[in-house]
Amino acid sequence: MPTTRRDFVKNVSVASAGLLMTTPSNLFAALPAKSKVRLGIIGTGFRGEGHLALALRRADVEIAAICDVDDRMLARAKNIIDKSGKPMPKVFTGSNYAYRDLLATKDLDGVIIATPWEWHAPMILEALSAGIKYVATEVILGITLQDHWDVVKAAEANKAHVMMLENVCYRRDVLAVLNMVRQGMFGEILHLQGGYQHDLRGVKFNGGASPDNGTVPGAEFGDKAFSEAHWRTNHSLHRNGDLYPTHGVGPVAMMVDINRGNRFMSLSSFSTKTRGLHNYIVKEGGESHPNAKVRFKLGDIVTTQIHCTNGETILLQHDTNNPRPYSLGFRVQGTNGLWMDVANSIYVEGVSKDDEWDSADQWLKKYDHPLWQRWSKETEGAGHGGMDFFVLHGFVEAIKRGTNTPMNVYDAATWSAITPLSEASIEAGFQTVEFPDFTSGQWMYRKNDFALGDEF
Ligand SMILES: NC(=O)c1ccc[n+]([C@@H]2O[C@H](COP(=O)([O-])OP(=O)(O)OC[C@H]3O[C@@H](n4cnc5c(N)ncnc54)[C@H](O)[C@@H]3O)[C@@H](O)[C@H]2O)c1
Repeated sequence: MPTTRRDFVKNVSVASAGLLMTTPSNLFAALPAKSKVRLGIIGTGFRGEGHLALALRRADVEIAAICDVDDRMLARAKNIIDKSGKPMPKVFTGSNYAYRDLLATKDLDGVIIATPWEWHAPMILEALSAGIKYVATEVILGITLQDHWDVVKAAEANKAHVMMLENVCYRRDVLAVLNMVRQGMFGEILHLQGGYQHDLRGVKFNGGASPDNGTVPGAEFGDKAFSEAHWRTNHSLHRNGDLYPTHGVGPVAMMVDINRGNRFMSLSSFSTKTRGLHNYIVKEGGESHPNAKVRFKLGDIVTTQIHCTNGETILLQHDTNNPRPYSLGFRVQGTNGLWMDVANSIYVEGVSKDDEWDSADQWLKKYDHPLWQRWSKETEGAGHGGMDFFVLHGFVEAIKRGTNTPMNVYDAATWSAITPLSEASIEAGFQTVEFPDFTSGQWMYRKNDFALGDEF
């Protein structure tokens, strides 16, 4: 039997009872409700155009403005808008700072940022300074630890909402397992694992600012390449740490109430040697290709351990430079059983046969989250198996109701700060580093507010 909404809310209330004893002050002002929201999108590359297409499907969203610096990406975005039959928004381009004109657009309710990582923090900060009360950013929040603090402090000072669009928190199996965790099926949670284990070699290298410019497909990055190979690969060149932690950590952080009665206390990271990117360039472009001389800094596999104040441990892996099938490698283990997503297996003591794995499918169906039960039709055609629907939906519904976004600036800062902290740990010889408390002590009082029902 599927879980009813009433059961679900009751079970969450029981699971979270310890968190509800003290009422925290709400840092953010409630805003008036509205039926339609005006959005601007900065960055209409491959990710931004996905958000654009989903937003155009909604009757409660008006795309008021878009901005990008790449003509090809803008042409694709305009084509998507034309096909939707909706009016063409204002288009800002021509310089890396054209987004400032977008931010000055009258009556913007919210802005979505889907640009390269190094632009996120500056664009969020300027959006907040421009008076925009709802800012959504693609993963990640910033580059340095200071970026993360700056965004948190600016959101608080402006009484504004900053939501990181961490879509994996809404993956159907992840939400079903969250449902199981909240109903105590695994007992008390002890250990969690997740990561970003995705062969990105074809994303980090491509050939062709233009296909006929003599570049070698599979061996180029930077100025000669497009989309993520244009910028993301530079992070692998100059940085060694968990460069993409949020898809793995966001879902498991929600399962142990991080910033809602629990918090990350410390972190240590380890990295392997660096081989995969060089090997790929040689394979695709040959030993004589100029990029075969490039020495990348990013270790092929970066492993991070986090200790939580309530006694759980979390293990994250960043693994993007070598051949492998995709997997976020989730494992959620408690005193009574566990889920492992690679094996698609669940074991629950007293229900599963002794020492035998159950196929996860039967459990995930039984504990399907109320959000998926209600919105699965609307997720059809949305990216990443439908989960992309929920991040935009949550952002838009929060604006309409003038409430908090389902994931907030503390979630964004906490999950994303793993990158600079892991870099610091590796740089210091794999030392344990203290995890900052972006909530300034409010984690002790904040209530569990993520995915409590079937609305958003
Ligand atoms: N959540 C997910 O599943 C998911 C998937 C893919 C990408 N992402 C994230 O989305 C973001 C964008 O990634 P992408 O794959 O779309 O990359 P992309 O390179 O395809 O798109 C980025 C766009 O930003 C534009 N841009 C760069 N500087 C700009 C500036 N100053 N002003 C305006 N536009 C600017 C580029 O021209 C480009 O069109 C990244 O943070 C990435 O990590 C998330």
